[in-house]
Amino acid sequence: MIDLRSDTFTLPSKEMLETILTAELGDDVWEEDPTVKELEALTAKKLGKEAGLLVSSGTQGNLVANMTHLNRGDGVVLEKESHIYLYEVGGLSQLIGAFPFLIEGNNGLMDPKDVEAIFTRGYNVHWVDPKLLCLENTHNRGGGKIIPKENIDQLSKIAHENNGLVHMDGARLFNAAVATGMAASKIVENVESVQICLSKGLGCPVGSIIVGSEEFIHDARRQRKLVGGGLRQAGIIAAPGIYALNNMIDRLAEDHKHARMLEKVLTEIEELKVKPVDTNIAVVDTSASKWSAADARDGLEKHGIKVTYMGDQFFRMVTYFGITKEDIEQVVSVIPEVFK
Ligand SMILES: Cc1ncc(COP(=O)(O)O)c(C=O)c1O
Repeated sequence: MIDLRSDTFTLPSKEMLETILTAELGDDVWEEDPTVKELEALTAKKLGKEAGLLVSSGTQGNLVANMTHLNRGDGVVLEKESHIYLYEVGGLSQLIGAFPFLIEGNNGLMDPKDVEAIFTRGYNVHWVDPKLLCLENTHNRGGGKIIPKENIDQLSKIAHENNGLVHMDGARLFNAAVATGMAASKIVENVESVQICLSKGLGCPVGSIIVGSEEFIHDARRQRKLVGGGLRQAGIIAAPGIYALNNMIDRLAEDHKHARMLEKVLTEIEELKVKPVDTNIAVVDTSASKWSAADARDGLEKHGIKVTYMGDQFFRMVTYFGITKEDIEQVVSVIPEVFK
């Protein structure tokens, strides 16, 4: 099987796993695991922020960051198809008691006018006040879309001028950095907090990190404890993370090349519409074709290729470490067979 369902299927390399055996460990709830401290400091440095905090997953990272920024009854502005809104079990509402303001984006890209309209609408006794803006970069359902730096800065400015803060779900931030050639620290220079995933394209088995100011991370540490995220000898998670940040970022370019190969063959099928491929994700719209997304998934699976079904109309293919050029060439040869 060639499994293109998600980059979360990436398996750790032998070199990465070997780092666990020699990692220096301690109790991280007591802040005494040197390997965790090293990873947190390294991530903070890479992202140009003061401090970092290891968390168990992207979902936990977004939750802990948002718990730190928000109080019950605060408003959060976010894109309608964002991961935080759609795929994190409504943690914003269930666990924080925050109220979502949804913005209809264009493949994940929010129009500053729409965001401004919410942040500047003023006081009304009937309304909740927006306190936080969440951005997703790259945007998963947008087809791995890179949110342009100017857009991030414009949106952040609107939030900041109206007493708001900005959190970035940067599960795949390094994909954006590699594809644009812009340092990750530059991309996020105007947002207060960022969550990055180690367990997607970077190839780690577990883990995410949130970064922000010293004060933010100090508060986030307690929120992490609250949701059961205080881990003990977490250096066994951090050691692969350090390896990934030092060795697995530049190679994302290869995944992007593979995704473009998929984009090319898919766009040759006239009835299919492919969202522009910026990074390692190809999202395909089948609505103008004789196939449903389920037909596409089943047809490809018969040829040994797994893709994600994203509702009636869309399916998704994701490239990652472990998916080789040969695998992609195989997929490229099968696609015209399935869609004919
Ligand atoms: C954009 C985005 N944010 C957050 C997450 C959540 O990460 P996790 O699965 O580690 O909770 C994902 C997972 O796919 C994602 O795609």
